[in-house]
Amino acid sequence: MLALSRVLLLSAALFTSASAVTVQKHLEAPRHTKRIAVVGMGASGISALRAIMDLPEGLRAGWEVVAYEQRDDVGGIWLPQDNPPPPPGLPETPLYPMLRTNGAHPYQTLPHAPFPPETPLLAPHAAVLRYHQDALARAKLTSLVWLRHAVLRAEWVGDVREGFWELLVEDRARRRTFLKHVDHLIAAPGINRFPNYPDFDGVEDWLAAGKEIVHCVYFRDPRAFVGRHVVVVGAGPSGWDIVRHILPHAASVHWSRDTREDNPSSPKWDPIPGAPDRPRIMSLAGGVITFANGTTLARADVLLLATGYETRIPFLTAGGFLDELPRGAPRPEGVLSTTGRYVRPLFEHVLALDTRYPPGALYLHGLPMYNPTGLTTAAQGLFMAYTLAQPELLRSRVQMLRDLEEREERVRELGLDPERVGHKPTIGYGPLAGHLANGSYEDLLMHSLRDRGLAGYPGIPQLGANFTEQWRLYVMSTGTDVLFAWNAGELTEGVERWNERWTKGRVTEKDYVKAVKGVIEWWKEGKRRTGKGDQRSADVWGWF
Ligand SMILES: Cc1cc2nc3c(=O)[nH]c(=O)nc-3n(C[C@H](O)[C@H](O)[C@H](O)COP(=O)(O)OP(=O)(O)OC[C@H]3O[C@@H](n4cnc5c(N)ncnc54)[C@H](O)[C@@H]3O)c2cc1C
Ligand SMILES: NC(=O)c1ccc[n+]([C@@H]2O[C@H](COP(=O)([O-])OP(=O)(O)OC[C@H]3O[C@@H](n4cnc5c(N)ncnc54)[C@H](OP(=O)(O)O)[C@@H]3O)[C@@H](O)[C@H]2O)c1
Ligand SMILES: *[C@@H]1O[C@H](CO)[C@@H](O)[C@H](O)[C@H]1NC(C)=O
Ligand SMILES: *[C@@H]1O[C@H](CO)[C@@H](O)[C@H](O)[C@H]1NC(C)=O
Ligand SMILES: *[C@@H]1O[C@H](CO)[C@@H](O)[C@H](O)[C@H]1NC(C)=O
Repeated sequence: MLALSRVLLLSAALFTSASAVTVQKHLEAPRHTKRIAVVGMGASGISALRAIMDLPEGLRAGWEVVAYEQRDDVGGIWLPQDNPPPPPGLPETPLYPMLRTNGAHPYQTLPHAPFPPETPLLAPHAAVLRYHQDALARAKLTSLVWLRHAVLRAEWVGDVREGFWELLVEDRARRRTFLKHVDHLIAAPGINRFPNYPDFDGVEDWLAAGKEIVHCVYFRDPRAFVGRHVVVVGAGPSGWDIVRHILPHAASVHWSRDTREDNPSSPKWDPIPGAPDRPRIMSLAGGVITFANGTTLARADVLLLATGYETRIPFLTAGGFLDELPRGAPRPEGVLSTTGRYVRPLFEHVLALDTRYPPGALYLHGLPMYNPTGLTTAAQGLFMAYTLAQPELLRSRVQMLRDLEEREERVRELGLDPERVGHKPTIGYGPLAGHLANGSYEDLLMHSLRDRGLAGYPGIPQLGANFTEQWRLYVMSTGTDVLFAWNAGELTEGVERWNERWTKGRVTEKDYVKAVKGVIEWWKEGKRRTGKGDQRSADVWGWF
């Protein structure tokens, strides 16, 4: 237990050493007690920076904190790039103009920070960008961020007891590079950048026939598919959304995707009328698609891959601190590696357990998939901030490794492969949903701090209280129903009227939660009226 008196003592000690530094200033350059770099200023990096700077001042006295973002502004994937470079160039974001949130925004917010008044429940992408940018600006932290600065390489210099990160940073505006030394590195580069390209048999035949393969990271305008016969591949949210957007434009659309039976962690969507389901692609030999169940499709000229992304962090790999492995390859002992799907070994998806540097030297922010963005990034940020301030909150590397192995064992007990499940910790699709019976991933992280003497500290719940609010659990439980209901409502009532009905005069979290309840009631009532049971998205289309 970390008693309050000990924290105060520690703060006093930090103040003392800080004033000692001031006295010595003219003798030697000031020495910071900790040097920290955050790399990437999307929702995750912004949360890390905020959590660190929100620490009680005594806990972070003497720290030097710097943040690097390679793009022209902060906001990560929510910052548009309208003209992405064609392949082999890599877009800076997969954002497309029609994108909006795929759930009600109240569940995606940071704690106690609702979206601005009268924001539509499915928030347009520009509103999400403004939300995260405002979070940084309101905390007055913009001056800590170096825009147009890309970290190219990170290398731990020294050994596990004593060392530092040497970062090679590119200042893109001035076209120069420099070295920066820090003690702690928070990597928040995002997980939706590097397309996952499946290995299709016969791909040469497909291309030789003049047919195309394009990943949805390049998708912007559905009118690009006018007159084309398109097969969208992948059952994730990208596949679902993009099939709907191109359907009115393309000559034909097929949707190649797993069912829940094929793949228990696959999302469950009802069929989209007009876009027949197909199984996975087995081969493209002869320029003809052969699917896994033996059926073929000759009339197709574009494969639009919504097959997800690979988790890669090139600046760590360049420094020799993140091995990139093919799927299924054995993991090297003691060092961090990624298969594109899963980074290992990490404590609770967030803290690197590499043997070459001490726990706390490297945090990875934003790996959990399908989690409530604001809540997860806030919880991870707080975990980083407090364990940086109080390293004794962390158990030994060996103990944390044992925790990881136990967690993976629980996933196996559910009949799933941890390497395949990757960073889908609690909520999300399939049998993993809520599998940590003792609460959410976010609660797990925060309650470990709460119960170790930090109850009531900024951002940390009081003893007996939860980090995740009860109302948020309700909004999360409504899941995709809000998505389907909202789409149906816009179609039945018209976008403007529908919007006004659920957003006019809504300001507080409570107002927004009431709106979610109202939308769900409307949805259930529609089902009763039409007698269409649980065929959720079939309802959306079936009504018209
Ligand atoms: C199409 C799409 C739609 C989504 N919709 C939703 C949604 O509706 N609701 C929801 O909750 N979540 C959604 N998500 C998930 C989304 O990724 C998270 O909401 C969140 O924005 C992730 O933030 P992040 O900071 O982890 O990553 P990112 O937003 O990717 O930010 C990472 C930042 O790091 C920078 N960076 C990377 N490498 C370097 C480097 N070497 N040096 C300097 N800077 C670097 C990048 O430029 C970027 O700005 C969606 C994701 C995608 C791809
Ligand atoms: N707001 C929105 O409307 C919106 C829109 C798009 C995306 N997003 C978000 O963006 C993130 C990424 O979503 P995503 O859909 O791009 O990626 P994703 O969730 O990783 O989904 C990719 C899907 O493709 C499947 N797949 C991979 N290879 C395949 C193959 N060869 N054949 C058939 N299927 C294959 C994957 O199955 P496996 O299980 O085998 O990997 C997976 O189900 C998520 O956080 C998502 O919520 C949100
Ligand atoms: C192949 O799969 C599709 C759906 O994915 C199904 O409609 C079709 O009937 C299947 N065909 C055969 C021969 O199994
Ligand atoms: C829940 O907590 C109890 C007691 O702390 C523990 O024994 C149990 O393993 C936990 N269950 C899960 C699924 O984590
Ligand atoms: C905390 O969360 C648990 C699990 O969801 C719940 O049983 C409990 O009632 C919650 N406590 C409070 C004070 O909300």
